[in-house]
Amino acid sequence: VHTEVADGQSPDNRAATVAAAVALLRAGETVALPTETVYGLAADALNPDAVLKIFAAKERPRFDPLIVHVPTFDWLRRVARLNGEDSDIASRLAENFWPGPLTLVFPRTDLIADVVTAGLDTVAVRMSAHPLFSDVLRAFAKPVAAPSANRFGRISPTAAAHVLDELNGRIPLIVDGGPTTHGIESTVVAVRGANIEILRPGPVTRSQLSVFAEIATTSTGKIEAPGQLRSHYAPRTQVVVAEDLEEFVGPPNVRCGLLVSTGKTVPSGFAEIRRLSETGDLREAASNLFRCLRELDQSGVDLIVAEAVRDHGLGSAIMDRLRRAAAAAGPARQS
Ligand code: TXA
Ligand code: MG
Repeated sequence: VHTEVADGQSPDNRAATVAAAVALLRAGETVALPTETVYGLAADALNPDAVLKIFAAKERPRFDPLIVHVPTFDWLRRVARLNGEDSDIASRLAENFWPGPLTLVFPRTDLIADVVTAGLDTVAVRMSAHPLFSDVLRAFAKPVAAPSANRFGRISPTAAAHVLDELNGRIPLIVDGGPTTHGIESTVVAVRGANIEILRPGPVTRSQLSVFAEIATTSTGKIEAPGQLRSHYAPRTQVVVAEDLEEFVGPPNVRCGLLVSTGKTVPSGFAEIRRLSETGDLREAASNLFRCLRELDQSGVDLIVAEAVRDHGLGSAIMDRLRRAAAAAGPARQS
């Protein structure tokens, strides 16, 4: 397949790009679209054959369920079963954080294709606030399934060029909406009775959620969101997280890249340095995280040293991605 990158930003091209995306979705094809978190690879959620193309392009295992993105609030009741106390909390979360970077897991209806939820009796639902994404969805007038637009287990794309890197030749269209705002994937939560369980930390933080219900600290231990697989978000290069940079001693004769969250002075000896934010602003840091990891990965260093950030608020979402990147044992790094 030839992969076209279409400009969705300039006023001259926007309408034609949206129309092209909608036409492809109607034809049962996949389209990469920007969201406010990361770029997603979308297909008609009610068309199993279209959804299978997402799994094929990403080389994603079929046991890993996809997020359903709805065009309007009324679709929530058509894809999810809302009743009982937990559904009250969940609908309040939706009312407060949608459209936006929060994904909610609900018991599902039969409308969504089985392949979308990997056979689970629940469905993850989200409504994106990205103007291009929501324009495409409203014109399409149906929900789409859309995971992040990267090959399975790799770094999520935060720019159209990253999607091209990952999926060139595998999908027909990438809608270029510029760099994404949050730069990390949505917070995924399930409501269990009176508790909110955070399945994946993200832009909507624990303290924002705690206004609506207790945050459950105990996890069932079983992998319900493969975002929870330890080896997700893997660059090809080995990553280590350093709690204290001053104490870090690199192995001899190894070219080290450094990922640091602020503009502070750093120890010498690093071949490449990427700073997530000069001022140490966590929002800015999150929005640059995957781009900087990708750049360091492509810079030819042997090891990426990522400085730890405080595990609080948005810092928890950043640390979650760094730990997973560090836990990955890709075949490339063993050579
Ligand atoms: O920000 C985002 O959420 C992006 C954009 C494109 O919307 N999407 C995204 O999708 O990150 P993906 O597939 O890369 O991650 C979805 C996460 C996975 O960890 C998946 O296992 C989990 O959501 N998930 C999906 N359905 C689920 C379900 N029914 N129960 C529990 N977890 C679920
Ligand atoms: Mg993903």
